[in-house]
Amino acid sequence: MPFRPRYTGLIEKYRDRLPVTDDTRLISLGEGNTPLIRLNNIPKLIGKNVDIYVKYEGLNPTGSFKDRGMTMAVTKAVEEGSKAIICASTGNTSAAAAAYAARAGITAFVLIPEGKIALGKLSQAMMHGAVVIQIKGNFDVGMQLVKDVAKEAPVTIVNSINPYRLQGQKTAAFEIMEELECAPDFHCLPVGNAGNISAHWMGYKEYNDHGIVNNLPVMVGFQASGSAPFMRGEMVDNPETVATAIRIGHPQSWDKAWACQKESNGWFDECTDEEILAAQKMLAMKEGIFCEPASATSLAGAMRDIKSGKIPEGSKIVCTLTGHGLKDPDTAIKQSTSPMMTVDATMDAVKKAILDNLVH
Ligand code: F0G
Repeated sequence: MPFRPRYTGLIEKYRDRLPVTDDTRLISLGEGNTPLIRLNNIPKLIGKNVDIYVKYEGLNPTGSFKDRGMTMAVTKAVEEGSKAIICASTGNTSAAAAAYAARAGITAFVLIPEGKIALGKLSQAMMHGAVVIQIKGNFDVGMQLVKDVAKEAPVTIVNSINPYRLQGQKTAAFEIMEELECAPDFHCLPVGNAGNISAHWMGYKEYNDHGIVNNLPVMVGFQASGSAPFMRGEMVDNPETVATAIRIGHPQSWDKAWACQKESNGWFDECTDEEILAAQKMLAMKEGIFCEPASATSLAGAMRDIKSGKIPEGSKIVCTLTGHGLKDPDTAIKQSTSPMMTVDATMDAVKKAILDNLVH
C-alpha cells in the first residue's frame, strides 16, 4: 500500500527558508501546522471588540512549541555527525529532545531541576529513553552546567542558544501570517528564556522583508511576577512561579528579546500566579482549550492590556499557547472547581447527581 502523508513537518514545508539541503536527512515527527483558533466567548466576557486568536502549540507531537526548534536542531546535529545531544530544561525542551533523539537513534542527556518539572514532561523524557539528570538547582544553574560540560564532552547543545532552534521556531509566525494573510496587530507570548519571542520576531521580519506581508506586529512578552527579569531590568537569582516552564531568572536570549521589544515598539509585563491560573481556567472552561499554566500567561497579560485599552479595540491579537494542559495534570486538578463526586452505582444516585448539578 502506498503511504501518502498529508503533512510531513515544518522543515519539508519551509525548506526554502531553512538551513537544509536536498541531501539532509530530516528528523521529523510531523511538527508544526498547529491550529490558530479564534476565541468566541472570552472577548464577550471582557466586553471589548477585539479579535483574539490563540496559536495552540500544545498540539505539536510532544505537546509544546519546542518541537519546531527541536526538529531543526536534531536534524542539523545528525547532519554534523553528532551522536548525543544535551539540554537544560524546565521540562518541555527535555521532552522534545528525548523524542527527537529517539527518532534519530542518538542519545539525549537532559538536566532538569529536581522536583520542579511537571509530571507529564518528566514521563516523556523517561519514556523516550533520555538520560535524565536531576540537579539540585534551578534551570539557570543547569543551563550554565550544560554550557560548561559541552566544552569537554562530545555532545551538541539543543537549548535555544543553538541557532537552529530559533530557525525552526520562526515557522510559527509564518503559519500565522499565512492564515491571517497579514501579521496580527499584537502578538503576545509567555517569556522564559526568551528564545521563542525572538524566533517569532525573526519570522515576522522575514515575511515582511520578502513582501509576503506588509505589516509587522507589536511584540508583547509576559513573565510570571516571581520570575520576571525583563521587568526588573536585570537577572533574577531565585525565580519562583507555579508556571514552572518559565521559572527562569537568567534568560539566554536577553539581548535578542530586548531588540525585539524595541524594534516592534512592544513591551514586557508581568502576571501574578493567580492571574495565570485564572486565565488557564477561563480558557479551559469558556473556550474548551487546555493549555499549561505558563502558556496562559500570554492570555492573562493580553486580557489585562485589552481591558485597560493599552491594546485598543479593533485589534487583531494572537496569543501563543506554548504547551498542552496535559503536561501538568497536578496543577490542573489542584485548581479545578468542577463538581466531582463519588456516588453509589445505582440509577437513583446517578440521577440525583445529575439533577443536583443541572444548570438551567
Ligand atoms: N511556555 C512553555 C510551555 C515553555 O516550556 C517555555 C520554555 C516557555 C513558554 C518560554 O519560552 O524560553 O523561549 O521564552 N521552556 C523551556 C524548557 C525553558 O526547558 O522547556 P522561551
